[in-house]
Amino acid sequence: MVRYVYCTASTLDGFLADDADSLDWLLNVPGGDGASAFATFLDGVGALVMGSTTFDWVHRHENLHDHPERWRSAYAERPAFVFSSRQVAPVTGADIRHVHGTVSSHLADIEAAAAGRDVWIVGGGDLAGQFADIGRLDRIIVTYAPATLGSGRPLLPRRLDSARLRVEEAAMDGPFAQVTLSVSP
Ligand SMILES: NC(=O)c1ccc[n+]([C@@H]2O[C@H](COP(=O)([O-])OP(=O)(O)OC[C@H]3O[C@@H](n4cnc5c(N)ncnc54)[C@H](OP(=O)(O)O)[C@@H]3O)[C@@H](O)[C@H]2O)c1
Repeated sequence: MVRYVYCTASTLDGFLADDADSLDWLLNVPGGDGASAFATFLDGVGALVMGSTTFDWVHRHENLHDHPERWRSAYAERPAFVFSSRQVAPVTGADIRHVHGTVSSHLADIEAAAAGRDVWIVGGGDLAGQFADIGRLDRIIVTYAPATLGSGRPLLPRRLDSARLRVEEAAMDGPFAQVTLSVSP
């Protein structure tokens, strides 16, 4: 059974990005380059899912227009499903599938693409919430950075009580604290 895993970094106060979609709070953490758990996680991933704001950020940040090879360096051949009501920017040579509508209408295609490995829900928080809404969010891995923002893009704007969430693991990863939770439907 394919697992849907929402894996992300967050501020201590539960934000993925600031109000201007900047990730400077994360990129500027001293010693952040030393974190290593993410590479192990990525090894088990067969396909990616993300919203258009997240995709646009990656596109801009990595300058994929001029350097499309950077996508492959980061994610290899893994298919990526980008949810958007608009046309998303292309990335030459990458398997990017533009989708829209309910997440349930795309589960079969996403799972076929993942080929038995995990689906990484990259973000944002509402998209992860759409999977939780239909009982198809299996795991949450949050890497907490030693930073707060006060406002910004929320980690998971849903109400999930402790009957649905169970902490499976907590560990240090470089300057970060990583918490893994299982989610029941
Ligand atoms: N800290 C981290 O590690 C981390 C991880 C992930 C993301 N981020 C950042 O956090 C921010 C997240 O932004 P966000 O919360 O706005 O979320 P997002 O999920 O990246 O993008 C939201 C947009 O995706 C589209 N969308 C979502 N669900 C859809 C559906 N079912 N059908 C069609 N379109 C759909 C909609 O835009 P349109 O229809 O207008 O396209 C929606 O406004 C970004 O700045 C991102 O870079 C940080």
